Amino acid sequence: MSTCAWMYHNGRIVPYEQAQVHAFSGAVKYGAGVFEGLRGYWNEESGELWIFRLREHLERLRFGMRALRLDAVFETDELERAMIALARANELRENTHFRMIAYIEGDDELAGTGPVGLVAGAVKRPPSARVETGIHVGISSWQRIADNALPPRVKCTANYINNRAAELEARAAGYDGVLMLTADGKLSEGSGACLFLVRDGRLVTPDKGSDILESITRDTIMTLARDELGLEVVERRVDRTELLLAEEAFLCGSGQEVLPVISVARQAVGTGAPGPLTRALQNAYFDLVCGRTAHHADWRTPVWGGR
Ligand SMILES: Cc1ncc(COP(=O)(O)O)c(C=O)c1O
Repeated sequence: MSTCAWMYHNGRIVPYEQAQVHAFSGAVKYGAGVFEGLRGYWNEESGELWIFRLREHLERLRFGMRALRLDAVFETDELERAMIALARANELRENTHFRMIAYIEGDDELAGTGPVGLVAGAVKRPPSARVETGIHVGISSWQRIADNALPPRVKCTANYINNRAAELEARAAGYDGVLMLTADGKLSEGSGACLFLVRDGRLVTPDKGSDILESITRDTIMTLARDELGLEVVERRVDRTELLLAEEAFLCGSGQEVLPVISVARQAVGTGAPGPLTRALQNAYFDLVCGRTAHHADWRTPVWGGR
């Protein structure tokens, strides 16, 4: 993983080496932190780096902090300005991945709620070939964490031990990625992305009760599908065997973007190649995030603003 020259840490832009946390902090001892990952897209024509749905990511971070009972610090407006300052400090004029973590930096016992630190970085992230080729996924033997244990709608760092176990198991079995099931055996999501199927020309996705992260990209895809492609979108419980009946399937997330799933457990999904609706949604998505359309201009925050 590449690093960035400058980071944001507790209100200041600092050199990468200075963004440190104590080895006995609540973040290290208990995984007491919440994080966000989001992207900025460089548009050569307009000379602008557009951060996609920054506000929604910051609001989800604040929701996560509340859910984990972290002390309430950092205003959304302040963090919005900080991410822009971070991108400028790193001179980012290409596609970028931002990551931020709010965490307990105090050395306290289990029930400590602060002091809370906030760190963010921004690195260049070139396009992934997987978006073109699609991926082969397995179904994990690890069950997706549940809302009354480690709530998946909270992007808590500790939760990701579940995702990591699933991803490592799938990689060891030769897959490119993984799908996880809920305790009652319904489809949930990938290790860092939400799942969509195309069935009879309609878009189907596991509902918010299926132990998923309430993904911002999932919401974006549903909006594009309805508004731009005129598709019907259904959120419901989804059985794993529906993957064998689906015409197409794809994963989506800020990091993974729109990623065709071409086989599951070595059985082809649809024709075994990225399908036409997946391609249409990819095109609509990249036009939107790169600012090549006027649609939802409110979802794009400019970094350079003509500078
Ligand atoms: C478990 C999980 N599901 C889904 C997603 C996609 O969420 P978003 O579209 O908000 O990035 C992520 C993103 O990090 C994730 O970690």
